[in-house]
Amino acid sequence: MNRSITVPMLVSPALANKAGIFPGSEILKFMGVTAGMAGFRYCKKRVVTAMVGPVSFPKSVSLGELVYCTADVIYTGTTSMGIQVRLEIEKDDSPIVVAQGFWVMVAVDADGHPQTVESLPLENEEQKWLSVKAITIIKTLRGI
Ligand SMILES: CC(C)(COP(=O)(O)OP(=O)(O)OC[C@H]1O[C@@H](n2cnc3c(N)ncnc32)[C@H](O)[C@@H]1OP(=O)(O)O)[C@@H](O)C(=O)NCCC(=O)NCCS
Repeated sequence: MNRSITVPMLVSPALANKAGIFPGSEILKFMGVTAGMAGFRYCKKRVVTAMVGPVSFPKSVSLGELVYCTADVIYTGTTSMGIQVRLEIEKDDSPIVVAQGFWVMVAVDADGHPQTVESLPLENEEQKWLSVKAITIIKTLRGI
């Protein structure tokens, strides 16, 4: 099963604002679409967004830059998937994170009813830690 996807995109004039910056609203859209692709790729079912968690933008992105959005399924519940999303640019062959956030996608049928997803195997300490992190974010944001 595929738990990750990376989608490249060039920041074209149509995506930049008048100041030549890739605006947060467009970045959120790109990250959300990539999160949806990761969810679909993982569960092979239609997915909807249930929650968007904290998103931060540590660096700005300019017109003409090539950005890479990576979404990783880091948690599964019964029907939901917690997806970590990061947007990166490359400087001197090294990735620089320009935005990062967390999405919860739920697998649904054609009528929008939640469907079960396969449980995510947690094969190493990092994957276990990420899963606990996802549960903490979900519980915190839902106030439970
Ligand atoms: C997301 C949605 C399918 C959940 O449906 P529901 O009737 O609440 O179903 P359930 O209570 O069984 O919840 C299903 C799963 O969603 C999770 N969930 C529901 N609301 C959530 C929220 N606000 N934050 C995080 N997870 C949430 C539940 O924890 C559950 O996860 P689990 O099965 O892994 O335990 C429903 O609220 C919905 O259709 N929302 C609109 C989605 C939408 O249009 N998004 C924007 C466009 S894609």
